[in-house]
Amino acid sequence: MARDMKRNRNSSAYFFLLFSLILLFAFSTMSVEARKSHGQKMHRGQHKKHKNHKGNVSTPPRRSRIPAHAPASPPITESTIFDVLSFGAKGDGICDDSKAVAAAWEAACKVPGATMEFPSEFKFLIKPITLQGPCQPHLTLQIDGLVLAPSKVWSGPKSSLFQWINFKWLQNFTIQGSGIVDGQGSNWWTPSSPFDSMKRPKTFPDMKPTALRFYSSYNVTVRDIKIINSPNCHLKFDNSRGVRVNNITISAPETSLNTDGIHLQNSQDVEIHHSNIGCGDDCVSIQTGCSNVFVHHINCGPGHGISLGGLGKGGTVACVSNIIVDSIFMNNTLYGARIKTWQGGLGAVKNVSFSNIKVSDVKVPIMIDQYYCDKHICKNKTGAVAISGVKFDQITGTYSAQPLHLACSSSVPCSNVDLSAINLQPSLEFRGLRDALCWNSYGKSQAPLVPTSIDYCLLKGGSVLQKISRSHGKSC
Ligand SMILES: *[C@@H]1O[C@H](CO)[C@@H](O)[C@H](O)[C@H]1NC(C)=O
Ligand SMILES: *[C@@H]1O[C@H](CO)[C@@H](O)[C@H](O)[C@H]1NC(C)=O
Ligand SMILES: *[C@@H]1O[C@H](CO)[C@@H](O)[C@H](O)[C@H]1NC(C)=O
Ligand SMILES: *[C@@H]1O[C@H](CO)[C@@H](O)[C@H](O)[C@H]1NC(C)=O
Ligand SMILES: *[C@@H]1O[C@H](CO)[C@@H](O)[C@H](O)[C@H]1NC(C)=O
Ligand SMILES: *[C@@H]1O[C@H](CO)[C@@H](O)[C@H](O)[C@H]1NC(C)=O
Ligand SMILES: *[C@@H]1O[C@H](CO)[C@@H](O)[C@H](O)[C@H]1NC(C)=O
Repeated sequence: MARDMKRNRNSSAYFFLLFSLILLFAFSTMSVEARKSHGQKMHRGQHKKHKNHKGNVSTPPRRSRIPAHAPASPPITESTIFDVLSFGAKGDGICDDSKAVAAAWEAACKVPGATMEFPSEFKFLIKPITLQGPCQPHLTLQIDGLVLAPSKVWSGPKSSLFQWINFKWLQNFTIQGSGIVDGQGSNWWTPSSPFDSMKRPKTFPDMKPTALRFYSSYNVTVRDIKIINSPNCHLKFDNSRGVRVNNITISAPETSLNTDGIHLQNSQDVEIHHSNIGCGDDCVSIQTGCSNVFVHHINCGPGHGISLGGLGKGGTVACVSNIIVDSIFMNNTLYGARIKTWQGGLGAVKNVSFSNIKVSDVKVPIMIDQYYCDKHICKNKTGAVAISGVKFDQITGTYSAQPLHLACSSSVPCSNVDLSAINLQPSLEFRGLRDALCWNSYGKSQAPLVPTSIDYCLLKGGSVLQKISRSHGKSC
């Protein structure tokens, strides 16, 4: 009996070993086949590239890091690099490299831990494109070269006008590198505004594209790169969560129109830090649906400062909460720390802190504007996005128009607005400076406060207000 059991165990162990061997053999054959077919695909790509190159069939590939060139023994570390040049990109800044980029993306997306690369010393011209997931985890887009948008204004379906490069449905994705993404937007800036149909040529599209837009993505990082001259926003996160932006540079001339630096909408758990942003509109713009946003160690200017809003346009509901803006230097901006809402909106802005902000020649360093209007006159409306719990702490430096402007809604006052350690001196060259203004803004202030007019600005009290403010914020 005991011996029988032992024999049974022995024979099952034997079968297990045999079975494992068969599996191992089958698997290794399969992966060799897979590598072979991958290799063949690469060769076809290279071949096509040669023929297209002005008949210079003998040109060796400029760079070849794809394992396909040695299909017999592909080192595993190399097989995760997908250089766009190996997918037929010319990299001359003249030919359209969109197809090669799409092909490289498709291949890289399938491999865990892959890196798709725009190598340095090449210029890649690409048309509006969507690079979408889901992809295998930990995909990296390494930008060391120059990535160029078409320099002419383009038209087409709305999807191509909404943005130039659309990153969609990605998780654990990183963009990095020492390269530059150039939106070549100057031709889009000339007609004064997309809303200003009088000055716009008839053929001009009524929308201006964002340069890089993330849509519905999680745990994405953008670091080290430079993004310049976008037709509209430079970097936008829409419906995303777990966003990290670190050590990037955004630059567009002060005269460029509507060119926000970083634009957040419906996005949560965002950290933006150690970056330099100078453009023609807001350096960072935080829109409805955003919460848990931490913006710190940013140099901002030129531009319109760091803004929440405009919120509540056309009577819409806006909800923004838990925002920290800390350790910022603003030079030559129109505004500094700003919240702007349209009249007649609904919803709430809650728990916002602006601290350690140094301003230099900023027109209005501290601003709440509940009468925001992008035309000359907007209709008066009752109701507003309720603003409560806003802290302005350690805002120092020089201003060139007005130190503080808190224009809260007449129907929905601002509550718990705290001002502390404010020291704002007029810039020497400017005249016609205005005093601090507060309208229907409740809260407390704490010395030191310079100019002292800030001290008398806020209204005291507020238990009734909080009720009003709470009932307005219910829709969030
Ligand atoms: C062929 O390629 C070589 C090496 O890159 C280059 O020097 C030569 O100008 C090319 N010829 C043509 C016709 O493109
Ligand atoms: C993303 O990365 C995190 C941390 O490394 C990991 O916990 C998570 O499972 C990953 N998610 C996906 C979809 O790859
Ligand atoms: C995002 O990252 C966090 C922490 O690394 C991880 O717990 C989470 O699963 C990730 N989410 C996704 C959707 O990958
Ligand atoms: C910041 O990015 C630049 C490239 O643009 C790089 O040279 C530098 O090392 C990065 N700094 C940090 C701290 O990562
Ligand atoms: C305010 O926001 C900060 C930053 O997101 C958060 O840590 C804190 O818990 C929030 N406070 C309240 C009362 O929600
Ligand atoms: C502010 O920007 C101006 C150019 O707009 C520059 O000349 C000046 O040096 C900058 N100031 C500081 C303190 O960085
Ligand atoms: C809006 O209301 C203000 C203050 O009551 C008033 O001065 C202004 O003329 C009104 N504007 C319009 C467009 O009705």
